[in-house]
Amino acid sequence: MSYNNILVNPNNAITTITINRPKKLNALNKETIAELHEAFFDADEDADCRVIIITGSGEKAFVAGADISEFADFDVSQGAELARKGQEILFSFVANLETPVIAAVNGFALGGGLELAMSAHFRVASDNAKMGLPEVSLGVIPGYGGTQRLPQLIGKGKAMELIMTAGMIGAEDAKSWGLVNHVVTQEELLPLCEKIAGKITRNSSTAISAAIKSINANFDKTKDGFETEINQFGNCFGTSDFEEGTTAFLEKRKPNFS
Ligand code: COA
Repeated sequence: MSYNNILVNPNNAITTITINRPKKLNALNKETIAELHEAFFDADEDADCRVIIITGSGEKAFVAGADISEFADFDVSQGAELARKGQEILFSFVANLETPVIAAVNGFALGGGLELAMSAHFRVASDNAKMGLPEVSLGVIPGYGGTQRLPQLIGKGKAMELIMTAGMIGAEDAKSWGLVNHVVTQEELLPLCEKIAGKITRNSSTAISAAIKSINANFDKTKDGFETEINQFGNCFGTSDFEEGTTAFLEKRKPNFS
């Protein structure tokens, strides 16, 4: 599959998706969102892919937001549809993938950019990264899940302040607030993400998918998280990975998950 706005690089069970509109600071236009949907869908379906890394091209930006030029003249229903469709095909879609997604935040992650990073299962940032949800400075609010995921990650008070002030925080603050897990230099960013991804690939992908579903259920008001965990835990007992993992332990060898 060839794309106009993204690069997809599968390598050793890790697929790296790079948003590639550096002149527009990787802003998410409609075509890019559609291409990202395709790429995430394909990587999730690909049995060889065990971890997905999402990043931005260039040294300046992960993603500087949704492409403002595309929605500046929208009316009420078009605005609602923009948010609904975006959440459905990209932001909630990524959050609910079975394959783990790591966001390598390599620069500005603003608006839809931070919302995309927050849809990933966790985040690693380079020390130049700046993060924020500046939508109220444009007369709108975050519409791709930002008002929900930011308080889940950093708490209600900090999220209120960051959104109301349309402010930006640096990578170290983002780490101390729990928004990103690690901060490294730009050169070290992808190698660290790949190293973490490598550790993930050694574990059972069916168990990891079950863990993602169970953790996500904690943040989904339509689901009972404890009940989800019980069901997902039970399902693991019917998998070949469980058989291999427990047998390998008892035989004092490393598991070889399919
Ligand atoms: N949508 C559309 N285009 C964007 C964009 C966005 N969210 N963010 C940046 N761009 C474009 C700029 O229009 C500019 O294009 P041009 O060269 O054709 O004029 C190009 O990317 C470079 O951006 P520029 O603003 O010149 O870079 P800067 O270093 O001066 O500022 C930012 C960087 C990130 C502070 C600034 O681009 C910005 O505030 N972007 C918008 C952030 C935002 O509000 N995001 C939420 C959207 S809902």
